[in-house]
Amino acid sequence: MGLSVIVLAAGEGKRMRSARPKVLADLAGQPLIAHVLERAAVLAPERVRVVLGHGAEHVRDFLPADVEVRLQPEQRGTGDAVACALDGIPDDDLVLVLYGDVPLVQASTMRALIEAAAGADCALMTAELGEPAGYGRIVRDADGDVERIVEHGDATPGELALTEINTGLLALPAGVLARHVRALDNDNAQGEYYLTDVVGRIRAEGGRVAAVQPEYDWEVQGVNSPQQLAAMERAWQGHLADRLLTAGVCLRDPGRIDIRGTLTAAADVVIDVGCVFEGRVELEAGVRVGAHCVLRDCRIGAGSVIEPLCQLEGLVTESDCRVGPFTRIRPGTLMATGSRVGNFVEAKNSRVGAGSKINHLSYVGDTELGTKVNIGAGTITCNYDGARKHRTVIGDGAFIGSDTQLVAPVTVGAGATIGAGSTITRDAPAGQLTLSRSRQRSFSDWTPPDRRETED
Ligand code: UD1
Ligand code: MG
Repeated sequence: MGLSVIVLAAGEGKRMRSARPKVLADLAGQPLIAHVLERAAVLAPERVRVVLGHGAEHVRDFLPADVEVRLQPEQRGTGDAVACALDGIPDDDLVLVLYGDVPLVQASTMRALIEAAAGADCALMTAELGEPAGYGRIVRDADGDVERIVEHGDATPGELALTEINTGLLALPAGVLARHVRALDNDNAQGEYYLTDVVGRIRAEGGRVAAVQPEYDWEVQGVNSPQQLAAMERAWQGHLADRLLTAGVCLRDPGRIDIRGTLTAAADVVIDVGCVFEGRVELEAGVRVGAHCVLRDCRIGAGSVIEPLCQLEGLVTESDCRVGPFTRIRPGTLMATGSRVGNFVEAKNSRVGAGSKINHLSYVGDTELGTKVNIGAGTITCNYDGARKHRTVIGDGAFIGSDTQLVAPVTVGAGATIGAGSTITRDAPAGQLTLSRSRQRSFSDWTPPDRRETED
């Protein structure tokens, strides 16, 4: 029996008050729908179909190539949406229905639902909510078995008092689902074809409906308003922070970290407040990240220290490096063991050799630094001639005086010294002092202008 996943995402999401389709709203650095698809992919389903309507042309661009799209021309309800997506699915395939605006269901929770469906005619994900307003309520019979779902708008006062709600997640065989959704009517408060009515229909035929609950409440919460989106972001970040703490990472304040991708942190890592991790970030053992740093797609070697207020993208370091404060790194930068990139330095697409230092106010781009190179304050590699980028190569042990411009392509030999304030346009030989500076002069017969003459 194969598994087919149907993700409902045709709704408009009016309450978000945004021009973007709701399922493209950002949660932890990704659109809501991307979270759903990523988790569903873990189950290795036969096919994944997304039902689109409002803003279909925008949403389509964000879907992976192997996801099939079905259009629901008019939003006539969740039952109608599912009916639009059942074509060609074998009757004995199990269909798992997910919502594009319920982004955080864990794969393990989806699996539990699938397992429950195997022992019943249909399985539902339900949850106990203190404030069930707005949700469909689960009506159980005298034996405690699920009998039907009643939508908020159609419920009696007695039913409104029920606190077990329908999350919307559902799993059942495609053949059974198809038969029932085709027979639905829209004789209800919203004039819609309710997918939830399938449950009562299965029971009426003598079928059995199983119900399972998620591990965490936030897994099954939907996003309908900016407030709910913000609350869900905090809940998810809290969960990620807790996972790090459990793994032995020291977070100075677990309420002040944001992970928008995957952060892997080894033992004895310390992360100060206000840091944002984007893409894939890996922190090896003992790494310390200072306050208010943004790291995207970085791997930081064991024992390295990132001082506060750095923006690092695509940085790879070996062990015991020091970065910052106020450092900006752009992609393609590699720092070898014990090297140091300091305050107000920008580096991109460069390799910094072991033990080398770029400590103050420099721009280093498209550069290869050997080992134990010292770059003085205010040094600039002039790597761009207006059309092309050129490389700078600096040999082992070279010393570049402050305020030097290295006009690429250019090579500074090993052990060379460049005098401060030089503009280097040709290769500097190894082991020699090279400088390009006009000779300093002083004028003994000079008298300062009489400032009183120019005063008004
Ligand atoms: C639905 C459930 C309700 C449940 C709640 C959980 C029904 C009838 N009700 O209500 O029991 O408690 O979800 O969040 O199913 N959609 C379409 N096409 C449509 C209508 C909706 O694709 O014609 C999609 C929406 O984009 C959304 C999902 O289906 O992703 C749910 O639709 P929504 O209108 O939010 O349903 P609720 O009224 O919240
Ligand atoms: Mg909803």
